[in-house]
Formats: sequence, structure tokens, C-alpha cells
Amino acid sequence: MNVLLIGSGGREHAIASKIIQSKHLDQLFITPGNAGTANIGVNIELAPYNFESIGKFACANRVDMVVVGPEEPLVNGLADYFLQNERLKNIPVIGPVKAGAMLEGSKDFAKEFMVKYNIPTAKYFTVTQNNINEGFAFLQSMNAPYVLKADGLAAGKGVVILNNIDEAKAELEAMLSGKFGSASNKVVIEQFLKGIELSVFVLTDGQSYVILPEAKDYKRVGEGDTGLNTGGMGAVSPVPFANTEFMHKVEQRIVIPTIEGLKKENIKYKGFIFFGLIKVDGEPYVIEYNVRMGDPETEVVFPRIKNDVLELFQAVANETLANQKLVIDERVATTVMLVSGGYPGDYKKGYEINNLGKVQNSIVFHAGTTLNDGIVRTAGGRVIAITSFGKTKEEALLQSYKNAEIIDFKDKYFRKDIGFDL
Ligand code: AMP
Ligand code: GLY
Repeated sequence: MNVLLIGSGGREHAIASKIIQSKHLDQLFITPGNAGTANIGVNIELAPYNFESIGKFACANRVDMVVVGPEEPLVNGLADYFLQNERLKNIPVIGPVKAGAMLEGSKDFAKEFMVKYNIPTAKYFTVTQNNINEGFAFLQSMNAPYVLKADGLAAGKGVVILNNIDEAKAELEAMLSGKFGSASNKVVIEQFLKGIELSVFVLTDGQSYVILPEAKDYKRVGEGDTGLNTGGMGAVSPVPFANTEFMHKVEQRIVIPTIEGLKKENIKYKGFIFFGLIKVDGEPYVIEYNVRMGDPETEVVFPRIKNDVLELFQAVANETLANQKLVIDERVATTVMLVSGGYPGDYKKGYEINNLGKVQNSIVFHAGTTLNDGIVRTAGGRVIAITSFGKTKEEALLQSYKNAEIIDFKDKYFRKDIGFDL
């Protein structure tokens, strides 16, 4: 099989690393990819997320399957574009059609869906310019802190949590006046839930599903979960508090009703569902849906999957996933993200990354890197994820941290307390 993988982060390098282990693979193309994927496949420069150029490339290069990493092309309808095109409709896309991707593309859609199918989530109220006074009244009826969410995609920045009612009202006005562009034409106000978060992933063919290993990611830039939100500074899988009893509740109350709900809505969902969950007094609630894998969660989840992933993806395409059984590495996987100093604020790019060849007993996933003139350079905020296995979390982290000291680039920063709360 020839496979085209879309994306450029650590997530995509981790997915690519599994795909190349498949006995069914002939050639792997990645667009745009990074310096890590260039080592294991062929990076292709196409107009970013341009459906026509992706389609043309797929035809010209006899691509048999497209695997989509990020949400944006899915929310914009890449899977629909393939299904509706005579020359492309037989090339399966791993990633949902637009109607399914709305679970991530619209918070209001996701909340309505959860209420309709009785899936536990925070209480909410959706506001537009037309009912802003009702929005103020809803805020007034709640206790601090106040959670405001832009309805649409806002590059991970669309959630604002405030402690003061006047600030919350001002923020609501600012969001509705275009603070996040059209993404905040609608704003979802939510009840604040206090608990511990985790990420649960399923792969579904629209009929059946497999639950992948769960993970916990560390979103804040500073130790002890302080400072600004980032894309994610590290991750651990499995999550000890996601015990059998808890995961049974997750499956019965959240996973199954979501899959069944999508069926009832006549949405043929083929791809990943990422449940951003919070455990409150032992009970799971959905904080958000994503329609893709998480990053950096993929860097700990995918290495634990022992299956031939192209067999899983083919089963998604053929709707035979019910016949597949996951085989999971029992060991603990941890990943530590090396980031550019200054991230998630301003930071410089283009620094040479040294000592990648000196890493032992860890897997290096490239996130924001490029290769120019044979030199690997930093090209983003999150630069390198270092994944290690261990019998325990401590053993795995020790190994990731050993290599975090070895890999070097100017202004390198990483959190030294990944997994501190597990
Ligand atoms: P999101 O962009 O939806 O992942 O939200 C970003 C972060 O905001 C989440 O990871 C949570 O930590 C926090 N958050 C979102 N919704 C709530 C909520 N209803 N209660 C408490 N925290 C929340
Ligand atoms: N790590 C969280 C995300 O991928 O959205």
C-alpha cells in the first residue's frame, strides 16, 4: 500500500513510525512532514491543506489511503472531498467527514450532541449577539470560575477561564465582538468542573470501535501545572486513576453513546475520537471532543500499540473493525517535550539541534523541526518529544530525562515534573 499522511508534528512522526512497521506498506508520503518523517518516509510539499493538490498527488502517486493528523482539514471537509470525487472516492480517508468533525469544529454542536444523547458534561448556555443579555444572566446564575469557549476552531486558544464576574461579562462581549474572529461569533458558557483530566482515544469504523491506551498530558508550560497553556509539554500512558471501574463508566456512559449517537445522526464516522475527560468525584465528564489523536498523547499511545496499524486502518475503511483485537504493550510510556525558550509566547527558530545520534533507549519524535542543508534545525515551539518505556512511570521518565539533557539546542526548555500528579 502507498499511504499519504497529513501533518507535521510529533503526532504525525509517531503515527508515521508505526505505519512504517506495517508489512502492508510500500511507500509512505507525508505532507508537509518534518525532519523526523523525512528519515522514514518521503516528505511532500503541497499547498497546505489544499484539497485539490492533495487529491492530485494521491491520484498521480497511486495512494491507497490518506491518514489525517490534524483537525483543520477534517473540519474543512477533506474526507467529504474524497468521497464526492469520482477519481478519489475509493481512496479511504482515516478521519471523519465534516459532519462528524463538527464534534471538534463547533463546541455548541458538541454540547447539543452530548445533551441529546445523555452524555455527561458540564451545564452550558450558548450565546450570540442576539441573546447576550441572557448570556449575562446565565453567568450571573453561576459561581466562579467562569468558563467561556469560542464555538469554532481557535488554534487551541479559544477557552478563557476567569474568576471575576465583571471580567467574565467583558470577556463575553469581547469574544462576541470578534476576539477570536468568526470562531467566537457564538460563545459557549460552561459550568466549571473541578477534577483531574485525562485523554481517552477510540478508533472507529462508524459501527464498532476499539479503545486505545489512555494518556494524561501536561498542558501548562510551568512545573506544578502553572503558567500559560501550551500544546502539551509531556504525557504519560497508562493513567493509574483510569482503573477498570472508571474505564467501564467511560465506555458505557461516553464511548458507546457517542458512537450510537453518530449512527443515529447518520454520520459515517471513520477515524479517531479523542475524548477530553475530567474525573469529578470518581465520575467521568466530557470536557471536549477532538476528531483526531492528541499531541503529545500520540507519542505515548502509538508506541504502546503492537498491532499492524495499517491492518487497523484498513478495517476502519472496510467497516470490519469488530474483527480486530488490539494488542497493547503493558509497560508505561512517557514523553517529555523539548520546547523553544519563550514558547508559548515569542521564540526564535532555526537553531541547530545537536546530539540526536547520541540518544539511547528512547524514541525521538520530531515535532517542530526542519532539515536544511543536511542540518536538523528548530522550526516551532514544540521541537522534540522524547518517549521512553519503563516498568514504572519513574523508570520511563528517568530515561526520557537522561536524553532530554543530551539533545541540545539554544534556549532549550522542558518541564522536569511530567507525571508529578500520578
Ligand atoms: P479545551 O481547549 O476545550 O481543551 O479547554 C482547555 C482547558 O480548559 C481544558 O483542558 C481544561 O483544563 C479547561 N476547561 C475547559 N472546560 C472546562 C470546564 N467546564 N471546567 C473546568 N475546566 C475546563
Ligand atoms: N494534547 C491535547 C491536544 O492534542 O489537543
